[in-house]
Amino acid sequence: MPDPRALGAAQLWIGTSWKMNKGLAESRRYARGLADYVEANPMTGVQPFIIPSFTALATTRHELGDESPVLVGVQNAHWEDHGAWTGEVSVAQAKDAGAQLVEIGHSERREHFGETVETTRLKVAAALEHGLVPLLCIGESAETKRAGESSRFILDQAAGALDGLTDEQLGRVLIAYEPIWAIGENGRPATVEELRQPFADLGREYGGRTLGLLYGGSVNPDNAEDLLGIEHVTGLFIGRAAWQLPGYLRILEMAAAHPKASAVTG
Ligand code: PGA
Repeated sequence: MPDPRALGAAQLWIGTSWKMNKGLAESRRYARGLADYVEANPMTGVQPFIIPSFTALATTRHELGDESPVLVGVQNAHWEDHGAWTGEVSVAQAKDAGAQLVEIGHSERREHFGETVETTRLKVAAALEHGLVPLLCIGESAETKRAGESSRFILDQAAGALDGLTDEQLGRVLIAYEPIWAIGENGRPATVEELRQPFADLGREYGGRTLGLLYGGSVNPDNAEDLLGIEHVTGLFIGRAAWQLPGYLRILEMAAAHPKASAVTG
């Protein structure tokens, strides 16, 4: 499996979190189908990643195979390596079970599980220390957007988690901008117009300095191409539309054919 530390920025990151879905059999089927697909369709210029539940992590990794170009991640991890933290899984444990990437600060975790800017900072640091790619999720609420505060809010979330990192460390971080109003069943896809300013802001601060700047929130095969065309967007983070393998493969295929797949420099 590829060493995340050796990954370059010159690719489009196309990934999915399965959230709290899929048991072992379904995870295995998905991973096998994906393994077959990437074997038949070498992923030049595209870096696929999938983020199953903890319970399916090792199975998914195993089914993809050790040499797979597909990275596997976890949806959360604790910053301490071990200890009296009942119910938590550490970055070290996730790595041991095959994770190469750690999703951090998804809005569902911030809203329902008390994730704070400070805990995202600790988790980013732990992921980097163990050589895993932190995928930091940021995004504002509909209310913050209405108040015209989106840019300040997302830049504060990013800075709170990333300030103090060296250039080398920042170069191993992915950022996903996922406006809360665009995510999930009650979300509506952000328009290309709405995304220009946030990505201009993120691009100014982090473009070319990180592994990539992803967009997430109601991504689907119909809007993926336009979203990838936005300046500074170098990847997509997908929920529902990629929970079934054919949906994910359609977006991977589209990304591989996208001009940015060969031209991205971060
Ligand atoms: P969605 O989820 O694609 O189903 O809107 C995105 C996310 O939560 O990352």
